[in-house]
Amino acid sequence: MAPTPVHFFSHGSTMMLGEESQSADYWKKCGDEALANGIKGVVIMGAHWASNDDAIEVATNPEPQKSPVAYVHPSKYKDYALKPDVATGHRCVDLLSAAGFNARANPGFNWIHDTYLILIRMFPGGCPPTTIVSMNPRYDPHYHMRVGAALRPLREQGYLLLGSGGAVHNLYRNVWDPMIKYGDNFAQTTPPGPWALEFRQSVEDVLSRGGGPGLRRRVTRLMKHPLFRDAHATDDHFMALCFVSGAVGALEDQGQPGVLAAEDWELTNMCNSQFTIGTWSASSTTVR
Ligand SMILES: [Fe+2]
Repeated sequence: MAPTPVHFFSHGSTMMLGEESQSADYWKKCGDEALANGIKGVVIMGAHWASNDDAIEVATNPEPQKSPVAYVHPSKYKDYALKPDVATGHRCVDLLSAAGFNARANPGFNWIHDTYLILIRMFPGGCPPTTIVSMNPRYDPHYHMRVGAALRPLREQGYLLLGSGGAVHNLYRNVWDPMIKYGDNFAQTTPPGPWALEFRQSVEDVLSRGGGPGLRRRVTRLMKHPLFRDAHATDDHFMALCFVSGAVGALEDQGQPGVLAAEDWELTNMCNSQFTIGTWSASSTTVR
């Protein structure tokens, strides 16, 4: 089959799980489309799990627990049944090892909200078989791009690949008071900082030019943007975007559209942009 589209989702704060938003609506739409197209499973790189050494790990815990989520009532997540895809997890280890990575299965990893927040929003009726891939703690953009490239063949086998990170995500520069005092994560008592607006625009410019090898170059180069460190105090929420650029950055992906489909600002300065690169219609057309 033709390759499935790839999503880069900005998961934002934990409150994105419990509050309605344009992003949440889009996540649900993407989940509905994935199910309608009969995906075999989801392969996801988040932003909250890195290996403890110079390696990359794939979650193979058959019965993972969920880490607690602050600022969200447990009824929103505690009964949602996770569905780890252990077999595909081992396949991912094999693909990564064949590509030269120091990759291994982790049978003890418990899931964190960066991934299951998105899964609950995308698939409220039930979690599809899901594989979680860790980050490497060196946070090298090219390394994570190559991880996406190594797993790209899964897109031709009916798997949905996505990255869950952040477009502008600097917890040190968020305005937390309205959320902590009033439970209002969307309050905007002042406009976002110019550094946040500028970097957010750069992310849109990079992704809206679509897939292909140029996407890999543009995304990895963003870490040299003069405002990168303002927008990302730590590198972790940017790695998922590097992964996405690898997954939809082959020559065959040239011309695949990149669309900013939804966006929510939280905590004044955190920009939760939701992107899709590629289309289901291209996939369906080829199948026919
Ligand atoms: Fe996060």
